[in-house]
Amino acid sequence: MQKTCLAFAVVALLQPALNLWASDASLAVFEKRILPILQASKPSSCTECHLSGVELKDYIFPEQDKTFAALVKADMIDLKQPEQSKLLKFIERRPEKPSLITDKVRVEEAAAFREWIVAAVKDPQLLKAKSTASVGPQVSDELIRHARKDRVLNSFAENVWSEVGRCAACHSPDKNQAQVKKFGNRVSWIKPRDMQGTMQNLLDSGIIDVDAPEKSLLLAKPLMQVEHGGGQKMLLGDRTYKQFRAFIDDYVAVVKGTYKDAKALPKLSQEVSQVSEIWLKIEGIPKSLDKQFLRADVYAKTADGWSKERVATGDRAIFGGGGLWQQHLTLTAPRDSARAKELLSAQKLAGGEYLVRISIDRNNRLAQDPNSDFTKEDVIGEVPVRTNWPSGYGAMTVVKLPAQTR
Ligand code: HEC
Ligand code: HEC
Repeated sequence: MQKTCLAFAVVALLQPALNLWASDASLAVFEKRILPILQASKPSSCTECHLSGVELKDYIFPEQDKTFAALVKADMIDLKQPEQSKLLKFIERRPEKPSLITDKVRVEEAAAFREWIVAAVKDPQLLKAKSTASVGPQVSDELIRHARKDRVLNSFAENVWSEVGRCAACHSPDKNQAQVKKFGNRVSWIKPRDMQGTMQNLLDSGIIDVDAPEKSLLLAKPLMQVEHGGGQKMLLGDRTYKQFRAFIDDYVAVVKGTYKDAKALPKLSQEVSQVSEIWLKIEGIPKSLDKQFLRADVYAKTADGWSKERVATGDRAIFGGGGLWQQHLTLTAPRDSARAKELLSAQKLAGGEYLVRISIDRNNRLAQDPNSDFTKEDVIGEVPVRTNWPSGYGAMTVVKLPAQTR
């Protein structure tokens, strides 16, 4: 009993000294380990998943007491179980395949904050600190979500990866030995079965140019705005161009943090698509239509007539010399439909009766305004066709341009 009293007395006597020691301890850690994070010019580990809008710096002020009070107020520090603090959980979030460098940064950041938080919650001086300042990102949750790497990858999947089948013969290392021999490894910008690697490669090699997006070689080469070993593979305003451009513009806005608010974010298209190996050929096209931009949309037969939404589409310039147009089809489906999920894996169209609706951009509207689209007025004819939609260049489904439109 007496012993305990004595112990209490000693502790009571020593308390001010202990307090002083606690604040010195946390302040020392703050200055040595947390302030450098605030002052660092290199990005924090957060940026491995958040391309913009979120930085570890957003959670630090130059003053220890202000930082602590604001973090407590934001529920980022758990006073009772400091090791369980939400801020530590944020920092310790790792991607499935983290980069080695970032992972090292992450371990250091977590250790620094763990040491500081554990010391800080024992500091009575800090516990008394009050703050009206708020910590955390300056932008809305919607913008944070949009700038997440997984979202950016989704956009790449829909807008670019779904199209690379068109470029693979010459740009995928499992198919392009001849091109590599002549032009070097640079020509292999596709990483087979590795979507994220391909995206990273396009960015690292500068084929997507973040500082001059519209000049990106990913657009300029297939458009033949600069000499391209593969020739013209894209027209200004065609679907591939629009998709590539949508990804590039959005990516640049995300990394540069130029979206002001959620209203500025691009709208998701109502349709998803996937390039296929199914070819469609239209014959009987007059020579006078040479080089005109033609789009063919395919509709399926349903119980109540032709489907409302197209099931496939193809767009390309007419080869007037041969009196024909041919292109492999891109399969399409309304977003969120059951068919949309099958598109990626199946890449097939069921055999049966279909309608091909043919449009021509007679006034070169799309070349002048690549954001514009074909309209009803551009439709020049419709042809029903019965086909099994075989795959491959050698097994095209062929239709004839209706006589009245020739
Ligand atoms: C491994 C990837 C990854 C890392 C690294 C990462 N985050 Fe996140 N973050 C996410 C995901 C996924 C979400 C959305 C889903 C969720 O909240 O669970 C998110 C959401 C957020 C949000 C939105 C609001 C909230 O409370 O969820 C904030 C703020 C945030 N993270 C901050 C950070 C900070 C700060 C860092 C670095 C210390 C960081 N994140 C590191 C993946 C990550
Ligand atoms: C028939 C073969 C072929 C096809 C198909 C093809 N290309 Fe190419 N491409 C080449 C060749 C050969 C080169 C190398 C010579 C050059 O730079 O033009 C090249 C170069 C490029 C480059 C420059 C690479 C670099 O960093 O130097 C880009 C970008 C490119 N192509 C994009 C595309 C896109 C996008 C598609 C698909 C829409 C495509 N290509 C389809 C043959 C092709």
